[in-house]
Amino acid sequence: MEIIIQSGKEEASLVAARLVARRLREKPDLVLGLATGDTPRAVYRELIRMHREEGLDFGAATSFNLDEYLGLAPDHPQSYHAFMRRNLLDHINIPPERTYIPDGRTTDVPAHCAAYEESLRAAGGIDLQILGIGGGGHIGFNEPGSSLASRTRIKTLTGETIADNARFFDEAAEVPHHVLTMGIGTILDSRECVLLAFGEHKAAAVAHAVEGPVSASCPASALQLHPHVKVFLDEGAAKKL
Ligand code: GLP
Repeated sequence: MEIIIQSGKEEASLVAARLVARRLREKPDLVLGLATGDTPRAVYRELIRMHREEGLDFGAATSFNLDEYLGLAPDHPQSYHAFMRRNLLDHINIPPERTYIPDGRTTDVPAHCAAYEESLRAAGGIDLQILGIGGGGHIGFNEPGSSLASRTRIKTLTGETIADNARFFDEAAEVPHHVLTMGIGTILDSRECVLLAFGEHKAAAVAHAVEGPVSASCPASALQLHPHVKVFLDEGAAKKL
């Protein structure tokens, strides 16, 4: 793992966005793995700026999102579909038919998850996966206890994650309890991973992920098994290293 510590979130996000842009210029048909949450938003803002002002071209790229809430339609404002459209996809020239996000309306979860994995394979796998980390150490929605070999599937959120994500909803009771998420095995198949974490509230999870034992109790620690991981932190998130 390569750990890159910057003074603040904006600085770290700029460096991470430049890495994504470099990879896209090297390989215009890049397959990009995308994450939701507050953490990657400054990276997405910078990518949008580079697209508008520097002609960064997503025209041949493909994207796969990590996860989605089960039961939320793509046009639900709190769905990850809507989040991605608002925060990135509507503002760059990536062809909509090549932006994959699990469908929260599916009525056949196993078939939908298998089809998602098949689309990933057909696209040649993910070149660069962007990740955030939950306070409990989850990546995607792989909560503690998730198998390190897991593939795309349904998961039940922990009380901690429901409480954390309630800030995006009008009230905690609206947060779906079930989600579809790429597995840890799916994430580890990516050729390169970029983990972003900002703020002191992430420091314990980051320390466990980077310096703790590889264990399902901190799903992000599985990234220690991956040969190409860059971790972008601000000083707060690096505090316990
Ligand atoms: C959510 C997402 C994760 C994200 C994490 C952290 O539950 N499924 O992909 O990394 O929580 O969120 P935030 O970046 O808002 O702190």
